[in-house]
Amino acid sequence: MDWGLKNRLSRIIRSDGRTVMLAVDHGYFLGPTSGLEDAAKTIGPLLRHADALMPTRGVLRTSVDPQSDTPIVLRVSGGNSILSELSNEGITVSMEDAVRLNVAAVALSIYVGSPNEKKTLLNLTRLVDEGTRYGIPVLAVTAVGKDMVRDARYLALCCRMAAELGAHFVKTYYCEGFEKLVRTCPVPLVMAGGKKLPEFEALELTYNAIRRGAAGVDMGRNIFQSDDPVAMIQAVKAVVHQNAKPKDAFDLYQSLKQVKRVAKKTRVKGVTASREELNKH
Ligand code: 5RP
Repeated sequence: MDWGLKNRLSRIIRSDGRTVMLAVDHGYFLGPTSGLEDAAKTIGPLLRHADALMPTRGVLRTSVDPQSDTPIVLRVSGGNSILSELSNEGITVSMEDAVRLNVAAVALSIYVGSPNEKKTLLNLTRLVDEGTRYGIPVLAVTAVGKDMVRDARYLALCCRMAAELGAHFVKTYYCEGFEKLVRTCPVPLVMAGGKKLPEFEALELTYNAIRRGAAGVDMGRNIFQSDDPVAMIQAVKAVVHQNAKPKDAFDLYQSLKQVKRVAKKTRVKGVTASREELNKH
């Protein structure tokens, strides 16, 4: 791996080999997703807590503070919508624009087993060639779709193929036998969050994925649709970076949420300060 590529990847996957990526790219085929209607308002307070942010270029340019040093993993595939065949994606951003946007990596979806399997796999190989030329790593996103059978056999197929075709890291879903995916995929795997779950369950999911070898998460709805997104991302980080157990992470979530509620209600100076203390976790 070239130095630039390694350097960019190490900004995303931190020195402990783990990452908490915040996915906010849903609008590229879903439109104004719940929780992201006002993207700037949602992303603003979460940005400094995320190890990396995964937006589209439209959201990046309009709704993300350019002074932020949070690395960007730019969504560069699309061309479809929720109303049509989901797999019909092309590459939507040139590598030149990705460089102009100073991204740390680019991300695209592959649709193994779909009518557009070949097209999306060739999108991946093209992106890997271009990314390698510019030192930009490529994240392959697997198994997006409503009616997918996301079992270990299918996901292992997707992840291994993505790695064989040159992806530098892969995003996939949690499943029974997740350790098989990890064992058979030679590049880091990050777990997609999926649909919104109660906070404790989302933390359990994260814990199980990390325990079975995930390099972290690329989570969207379970963070930004949470009752308290800032508390939730900190709880997810505690699991990913500190190996916190789900119960301890959930306790952290609740106490951060509670402190914020009390601070808001009373506006007592001392309480606000202690919330800031807690935010450092
Ligand atoms: C969709 C994506 C999303 O980034 C991904 O689904 C993560 O978001 P969530 O945790 O809400 O599922 O890649 O194509």
